Amino acid sequence: MEKIFTIEDMERYSRRQRSLGYSLAFVPTMGYLHEGHLSLVRLARQIAERVVVSIFVNPTQFGPGEDYNRYPRDLERDLNLLREEKINRLFLPSTEEMYPEGHATEVRITGPLTDVLCGLSRSGHFTGVTSIVLKFFSIIRPTMAVFGQKDYQQSQIIKRMVQDLHLDIKIFTGPIVREPDGLAMSSRNRYLTPGLRRQARELYASLGLVKKKYDDGERDAMVLREVGVNYLRQLAPDCLLDYYEIVDRETLQPLDRVGANGAVAMVAAYFGETRLIDNVMLILE
Ligand code: PAF
Repeated sequence: MEKIFTIEDMERYSRRQRSLGYSLAFVPTMGYLHEGHLSLVRLARQIAERVVVSIFVNPTQFGPGEDYNRYPRDLERDLNLLREEKINRLFLPSTEEMYPEGHATEVRITGPLTDVLCGLSRSGHFTGVTSIVLKFFSIIRPTMAVFGQKDYQQSQIIKRMVQDLHLDIKIFTGPIVREPDGLAMSSRNRYLTPGLRRQARELYASLGLVKKKYDDGERDAMVLREVGVNYLRQLAPDCLLDYYEIVDRETLQPLDRVGANGAVAMVAAYFGETRLIDNVMLILE
């Protein structure tokens, strides 16, 4: 697996692949890889002839007081995990490479998609994400890009950006990969103390109950939400909810009732200092 460190080399590689007629899938990550990331890489391998993965902890998507400095980083470990995955290139730009002196451009998706859920509690976060993702897209010019369903709001925002800017990139969303007890895999899970880790698994258990209630025919979004919130109150007393919402799958707006298009149950919560997110689709299977 060859590593690329500069934008120039990355552009040269992808230009060459394009000229040879190869499709190229891009998997952006912030490293400290886990099975969730690896499943996205495997999906990328299935859909494209060339796969580029990036590892870059993007400073602009972390707010003041968030965990940019302590975000887990372990390149050796990531390289070992990726070695098995037969990717074509690993893009490892430095912060100076991506944000050189004088860099002044931001890409901000306005409106309802960014005004809700994580957009409310993490001001500026999605602007940091879309700015870096568009920059990666214009360097790599992939045929497709793969994101994780755990960051459902992020995926919807990226799809909006791709549509609004007429980018010729197909966005794929890979399913959430979970620990055996249901906790969604996340690089941030390592921050949890054993006690909080035990409570964190209740996030998914609560979503499971919401889904069961939906499958049993409940369509009142308030009732569905209360099922999840009450469960967490009882079984995860140290969990501080940021939001628990039943939202439209496309617009992400909170619903009163779940209609024929289904919905997504989305949760974000603090376990100590650690903010975790998770979601489950409420659709008829
Ligand atoms: O989902 C992430 O890990 C990040 O937001 C991304 C897409 C790699 C951009 O920094």
